[in-house]
Amino acid sequence: MSKARITGIGHYVPERIVTNFDLEKVMDTSDAWIKERTGISERRYFDPDKDTVANMAARAANAAIAQAEIETRQIDFIVFATITPDYFFPGSGVLLQRELGLEGIGALDIRNACSGFIYAISIAEQYIKAGTYKNVLVVGAEIQSSALEMNDRGRSVSVIFADGAGAVVVQATDQEDNRGILSTHLHADGRFAEELYVKDPGSSRKLRLTKEMIDDPGIRAHMNGNMVFKHAIVRFQEVIYEALKANKLKVDDLDLFIPHQANLRISQYVQKQLGLSDDQVFNNIMKYGNTTAASIPIAMSEAWTEGKLKPGDLLCIAAFGSGFTWASSLIKF
Ligand SMILES: CC(C)(COP(=O)(O)OP(=O)(O)OC[C@H]1O[C@@H](n2cnc3c(N)ncnc32)[C@H](O)[C@@H]1OP(=O)(O)O)[C@@H](O)C(=O)NCCC(=O)NCCS
Repeated sequence: MSKARITGIGHYVPERIVTNFDLEKVMDTSDAWIKERTGISERRYFDPDKDTVANMAARAANAAIAQAEIETRQIDFIVFATITPDYFFPGSGVLLQRELGLEGIGALDIRNACSGFIYAISIAEQYIKAGTYKNVLVVGAEIQSSALEMNDRGRSVSVIFADGAGAVVVQATDQEDNRGILSTHLHADGRFAEELYVKDPGSSRKLRLTKEMIDDPGIRAHMNGNMVFKHAIVRFQEVIYEALKANKLKVDDLDLFIPHQANLRISQYVQKQLGLSDDQVFNNIMKYGNTTAASIPIAMSEAWTEGKLKPGDLLCIAAFGSGFTWASSLIKF
């Protein structure tokens, strides 16, 4: 049976930097509040004249494909994780496929929010192990900023979320070494669906979209921040230990932990509980905010470029978010 190995990583973030001080000008918030509660100093917002979810994904994908040293035409399947697609339908997978000129190959969209990238990785892993595909492109890309409410009412959500894209190439390998995706672990608990969600426009309403909705908070992300925080710190730890146990490994064996960049306080709490040192954890939320499904591949790409993720390293990625969903994966690089 083939193993699935990540052979290329890339990312793209929009050029426009929005600092906490920029947000102070449009809502009742402060750099100190945002830094203290979330760790975020600045984030990137897309350029509506230039960036789309699909073309940002394509830029990240091209970097990952170049690093994998394969031709774009060798990609035989796309898994695209996003909760902010360019269209209500079709999904972003087909748009990325078009951007890359890969007409004919399958393209699957994943809507598991912050856990979306790990859900997507698990699909690539399983298709490769089953022998169905050899080179799967896995992408997480989001444009959150166009839905943020830039005023006092929206401040608790708006200061956190932002835009970006990350991609990896997952390839089949028959090499006898132990490098590759060791396992993936996926969970969900729909009882908490409305604790972090966007209600409208919803398909099960008599009228999906009304004029009144424009001013209603229902079209914006609603987040019960305290509830998310409390569940996240428990589920992160559970799912990391689950992955370690499944592979008969210990926390000490980890070279690097890359958490979904939800909130620096969540990452730091989990780090402390696990007893990981600062150089065993990679965070970049300070620069990019929370980019939902894109945050893990963006962080992986930066960690790789900065030499903090190296060949042979044992990497743990883990995520928690809307659904609630949570997930982890252990990867030997
Ligand atoms: C969102 C979060 C930062 C809020 O921090 P908190 O300490 O729980 O803050 P609270 O929601 O209790 O709000 C505290 C006060 O700050 C205010 N506040 C909220 N957003 C603010 C902002 N951007 N700037 C200034 N004040 C703000 C609140 O209105 C509240 O004021 P009050 O005490 O007068 O009512 C925190 O709950 C959190 O990080 N949750 C997890 C969120 C997350 O990770 N989401 C991503 C999931 S993938």
